[in-house]
Amino acid sequence: MSTIKTETAIATVVVLIGIYFLLWKSTCHSEPSFPVVKYLATKAPYVVHDHLLYNFTKKGRSVEELIPKDCQAEQIWIVARHGTRNPSDKVITKMLEELQEIQKEIIAAHEPGAVVGGQLCEPELSAIKMWQPDLDLEPANEKWLVQQGEVELEGIGARFQKTFPNIFQKDYDSRVYNFKYTKTQRAEASAKHFARGVFGYEEAKKVQYPPALDADPVLRFYKACPKWKHSVDKNPETYAEQRKFESSSIFQTMLERIQTRLGLSRPLTLAEVELLHQTCSFETAWTPDGLSPWCAIFDEDDFEILEYRQDLEYYWVDGYGHELTYKQACAPIGDILDKFNMKVTNPQSPHKVTAYFTHSGTILKFISHLGLFNDTEPLTSDNFLQHKSRKWRTSFIDKFATNIAFVLFRCSKPNSEPSYQIGALFQEHPINIPFCNGNWICPLENFQTYFQSTVNTCTEDVANMCKL
Ligand SMILES: *[C@@H]1O[C@H](CO)[C@@H](O)[C@H](O)[C@H]1NC(C)=O
Ligand SMILES: *[C@@H]1O[C@H](CO)[C@@H](O)[C@H](O)[C@H]1NC(C)=O
Repeated sequence: MSTIKTETAIATVVVLIGIYFLLWKSTCHSEPSFPVVKYLATKAPYVVHDHLLYNFTKKGRSVEELIPKDCQAEQIWIVARHGTRNPSDKVITKMLEELQEIQKEIIAAHEPGAVVGGQLCEPELSAIKMWQPDLDLEPANEKWLVQQGEVELEGIGARFQKTFPNIFQKDYDSRVYNFKYTKTQRAEASAKHFARGVFGYEEAKKVQYPPALDADPVLRFYKACPKWKHSVDKNPETYAEQRKFESSSIFQTMLERIQTRLGLSRPLTLAEVELLHQTCSFETAWTPDGLSPWCAIFDEDDFEILEYRQDLEYYWVDGYGHELTYKQACAPIGDILDKFNMKVTNPQSPHKVTAYFTHSGTILKFISHLGLFNDTEPLTSDNFLQHKSRKWRTSFIDKFATNIAFVLFRCSKPNSEPSYQIGALFQEHPINIPFCNGNWICPLENFQTYFQSTVNTCTEDVANMCKL
């Protein structure tokens, strides 16, 4: 009898402890139940095996498995965003100064006898208490590539080399390789680390780079488009949907939720929440395996809302929002055709690899010109809920080191002329693409036919549409 009582008592205690931990887990975000990197928009670190890839690619199949047996890779053309970097000088200054003020307020709100009382759990609060600004961070190093960015680009270079060993030969030869970066520290360092991944440390020192241009006509075409700058980029109308979303009840409720969680007796401003979110994003991107204490301030709904706020901005500034934005991206398409046609007409030509290192602004306009990740309905302030499974998700399509590659394949069947195919890779995975009718690989002529008229008139079209 008494042993049964003891057992019941023990069982009850075990169940109660279990419930306690479940409740604690569900409200304590010191170990979130979802991967934060999923929601960090354009400040997300590079992840090769992103779960979202599976919605757009051949599920779980590697490039090697998918290349048709009779085809051999002859050339590759890659454009990549620079890797994970430092914030802008403005954000660095805020992280070093303003953030410490908010930190003090949050700590005070969790002291016994605080006016309202914060709801952060003990591990969340002590992580925030222990947080100190990174003293290596200075405004003068704004936007520099960080170590995680170096690792990202080296990894990408090494994996491309491994997948296509016959185009990425290990001995550097300036006739085979064509690397280029924009006139920025982060793009230059990205190119150099990619080269290290391909060649190894010593050989990579031999790589020659052409002089970098600020407004490179292929790598950063929009820098030479005054009309786009004036009517899109610098036009307040472009940000109207983002502003409306910020004043929507979904967004305002989120701000109040965060204020309550932190126990502040005054409303948090959008700029403050943005700073907290930016710090969470950058600190996570810098050390993806660690957890920034600032991320614990947000729950999954908050992250989704803040991600959508940024997706809206990039949709209207750099994406499908305005035709002018992506129509100007014809130059890189022309560059692919030039390089590939050169090989087709002159199979002896030694050139094999083109790799460009550039910025988010180029990647998103290029993606939109290609017709990738195009939702049926535009992103607006009032359709966040309909767009829960949208394609335009910058955390996936514009994370640091995002890359798009086109591969030229020479295919030969016995007793027939060789033919050429083009394959598309996004974040290193085969991706179904509109010009291939939704396949990842198709005859080079498809690409040519699809884009020929755009490419033929690219120079004059850009001159006309970009004129102020
Ligand atoms: C994007 O999708 C919309 C709706 O399906 C379509 O009308 C538009 O032409 C597409 N844009 C591009 C650039 O492919
Ligand atoms: C990806 O596919 C899954 C399963 O079909 C779906 O639940 C999810 O919403 C999709 N995501 C996107 C971005 O399309």
